[in-house]
Amino acid sequence: MTWLITGGAGYIGAHVVRAMTEAGERTVAYDDLSTGRSARLPEGVPLVVGSVLDGDLVARTLSEHAVTGVVHLAAKKQVGESVARPLHYYRENVEGLRVLLEAVTAAGVPSFVFSSSAAVYGMPAGAGDDALVTEETPCAPMSPYGETKLAGEWLVRATGRATGLSTASLRYFNVAGAAAPELADTGVFNLVPMVFEKLTEGAAPRVFGDDYPTPDGTCVRDYIHVVDLAEAHVAAAHALRAAPGRALTLNIGRGEGVSVREMIDRINAVTGHDRPPVLAPRRPGDPARVVACADRAAAELGWKARHDVESMLTSAWAGWQHHHPDGR
Ligand code: WQD
Repeated sequence: MTWLITGGAGYIGAHVVRAMTEAGERTVAYDDLSTGRSARLPEGVPLVVGSVLDGDLVARTLSEHAVTGVVHLAAKKQVGESVARPLHYYRENVEGLRVLLEAVTAAGVPSFVFSSSAAVYGMPAGAGDDALVTEETPCAPMSPYGETKLAGEWLVRATGRATGLSTASLRYFNVAGAAAPELADTGVFNLVPMVFEKLTEGAAPRVFGDDYPTPDGTCVRDYIHVVDLAEAHVAAAHALRAAPGRALTLNIGRGEGVSVREMIDRINAVTGHDRPPVLAPRRPGDPARVVACADRAAAELGWKARHDVESMLTSAWAGWQHHHPDGR
């Protein structure tokens, strides 16, 4: 089998390519290199440079590489930007997916894994200390980004129903870490890199609000190592191949809630800093608590996260230092 990994030169996509390759699968990366970097790809993995909006190029790629499964990660993923540029996000994430699915079904490719997000849940009701989000929790995205992921899931599922395409939508929780320093996330859009940036600038990390209804008043999230996330894709790809006509929707998290304040304490410890955070205003639209129930992924895929927060932070820090050799 050959798997086409769209967004394969991105932070998560390159980890998926690596995990697929390690599992003995043949892969082809497809990426417009808007944020991806070809240097992230292992030697021998072909890269097709282009957009998923280019249906002709997708069709040619599927045929030339005899693709038998697609893992679709190519998308825009900044929540704030999606609020300012909803049309751009709908075009890239929903129209891009539609064009891709058209080519996939026309070529008779049987399996499709879709990169979704915990952002589909929005503000889950029940912020109690042990509340977990299941796949049955009602979806109510709070940003155009989250909407495009939910609409994407609908599109994927409807296409599966209509054509027999076997599908899995994986709802990623908060991804961190790296398999190797050169594969690390180079964007500074999430808590872990934002804290790294502050600490290396000699500034205090910021806590966006400490009056949430959580044990220490700061938001609680479910952090997952990108290596575990990548392995979930391999497990999903294998599950689809083994059983045609499936339609899976799965949370990919660890089921462990960690607060912003705890994360900052741990980041200080891992990086050898000792800088207490300062309080900043709440960031609009942040839910108090979003923690996955990961039971369904375990039952359907036999997959479970293996790495803890410590290993996410240690590997993410090694990646940060690799990409910021001057210490900034
Ligand atoms: C985590 C917590 C912040 C920076 C987003 C998207 C989601 C997914 C992952 C996907 C929040 C707080 C942050 C800082 C802080 N995106 N924070 N100080 O918002 O849970 O999820 O990224 O592709 O769809 O919504 O992640 O890392 O931005 O924030 O206090 O300097 O850290 O307010 O509570 P979030 P995040």
